[in-house]
Amino acid sequence: MATLVLAAVCTLLVLVLPALSKEFTDEVIPKGQTERIVPLALVGLGAIALRQVLFTLRTVSNNVFEQKVVHDLRTELYGKIQRLPLRWFDNQPTGDIMTRVASDVPAMERVIIEGLDQGLSGVLQFVVVFGYLLTQHAGLTLLTVAPLPVVALAVRIYQKRVEPKYKAASEAGSALNSLLHDNIAGIRQIKAYTVEPEELERFDRRSRDVQTAQLSVVKANAVIWPFVSLVAESGIVLTIAFAAWWICRGTATLGTLSAVLMSWGLLYDPVSRVNPLTQLFTAGIVAGKRVFAVLDQTDEANFAEGGRLEELKGAVRFEGVAFSYGGEVPTVAGVDVEAQPGQTIALVGPTGAGKSTLLNLLTRFYEPDSGRILLDGAPVSGMSKEWLRDRIGYVTQESFLFNASVRENLTVAKPGAEDEEIWAALESANAAEFVRRLPEGLETVTGERGTRLSGGERQRLSIARALLKNPPILLLDEATSAVDNETERLIQEALERLRADRTCFVIAHRLSTVEKADRIYVMERGRVVESGRHGELLAMGGLYARLCAGGLKEEAAVSA
Ligand SMILES: Nc1ncnc2c1ncn2[C@@H]1O[C@H](COP(=O)(O)OP(=O)(O)OP(=O)(O)O)[C@@H](O)[C@H]1O
Ligand SMILES: [Mg+2]
Repeated sequence: MATLVLAAVCTLLVLVLPALSKEFTDEVIPKGQTERIVPLALVGLGAIALRQVLFTLRTVSNNVFEQKVVHDLRTELYGKIQRLPLRWFDNQPTGDIMTRVASDVPAMERVIIEGLDQGLSGVLQFVVVFGYLLTQHAGLTLLTVAPLPVVALAVRIYQKRVEPKYKAASEAGSALNSLLHDNIAGIRQIKAYTVEPEELERFDRRSRDVQTAQLSVVKANAVIWPFVSLVAESGIVLTIAFAAWWICRGTATLGTLSAVLMSWGLLYDPVSRVNPLTQLFTAGIVAGKRVFAVLDQTDEANFAEGGRLEELKGAVRFEGVAFSYGGEVPTVAGVDVEAQPGQTIALVGPTGAGKSTLLNLLTRFYEPDSGRILLDGAPVSGMSKEWLRDRIGYVTQESFLFNASVRENLTVAKPGAEDEEIWAALESANAAEFVRRLPEGLETVTGERGTRLSGGERQRLSIARALLKNPPILLLDEATSAVDNETERLIQEALERLRADRTCFVIAHRLSTVEKADRIYVMERGRVVESGRHGELLAMGGLYARLCAGGLKEEAAVSA
């Protein structure tokens, strides 16, 4: 590698100065060779200049490599995160994930690049200078390196002690970022409930945790490194004393002493770099463990690989499906639901009954604990998730928009869609009119999570997105937010267009939607308690009848 050659040449150049010093002391000065002063000085200057030029080259080449490594690692980590199952995200605060990508990757990479580069060039310099010294005076050389075993031991102890402190500091930083992320996302709630002082206090506490953890690292560093310097520098006193003795006895020359003294700095320069390097390594190891903790997670199972159906008719069956997010009581249990191709199935029931969960199982965001889900008679558990999800349009309960243009938000469903298709989808979703009124039309940026749009507008864009995809199976988790009657009518119309000619599961909160369904399943506490058509269910006088009497819609408005 070019950078290694550069490092080697730089290292050899450092020897020029001690050699010159010796030449001046032992030859030029005693023999009065004044004519050699200028040429020798020029050699010294040349060596210094060349070294700095090479150093610049090395820095640049290292950084090119370094940035590439960071980029690759960062991208690999993000790619991995994207392939992880949803369950992982349920337990991982966003701020923590962000810290791993944004801070831990660079910390880890610094070890690979700076650590290896500085470490290697340090070792190289040490070996070269040590070899040079040996040719000068073996006894003095051994005295010079005598303190090193003590230094090595100290560093070893330090590393063991300080690693947990780095880990704590890193975790405290992550916790702080998680809180920050959560609070910025929830700033409206914080302001609405005027909990600013409480949140500030919470932030203050987390920030103090970071402060304490960082200080603890700093304290450990503050004790160990002066100790290392003390030991190392005491070596030089020994060296001078013994050199004086050997010069008096005639076994060493003044020139040898001057060369040794000049080399001492060069020999201990790598040793002094052990301090920042050890800190770098320790921090890097901690960061590396955090990055690999993510990289070692198992990918979502059979995403690309797995079965595919030749032709999808759209028959869906849930057979005795049970699932739990992790708690003791199953979220859904013993669920049997059936949809013939092209049918519209409505799921109704009180909030928390497990309606959205059923849809999450059909898309295989989560896997059932028991029972099975069949698509055209084949279990979805054996199918490729990519294939399956490509055939399902899912309008989720919360309409999420990316902080991107309206166009980009729609083409998620169909990359490269033509303008006509986009407008047709917008028309069908009753969204075309308001999009036309937006300052930049399709190119208007919707803001984070779509906050620059109203709830009803977001919802209609989500519907347009699903329409653009034109999937054979459609899942509609009707948003429960109360919208005005006109908007509701527009959304209803859009939904009806979406439902045409495809198997459709609608989680309905509005009577108007439910009435038209081919079959209604009424859920309560994770179980299907009633099923049938609107009229039949009303006649049964059970939960459905009560929900209707309460006015499905009003009930929905409460749960929003
Ligand atoms: N990611 C999750 N992790 C843990 N528990 C969850 C998760 N999502 C939902 N739950 C729990 O599962 C239960 C069913 O939730 P689900 O979202 O399916 O209800 P729902 O019938 O769609 O209700 P709503 O009408 O309010 O949307 C709830 O008790 C909820 O607390
Ligand atoms: Mg729901």
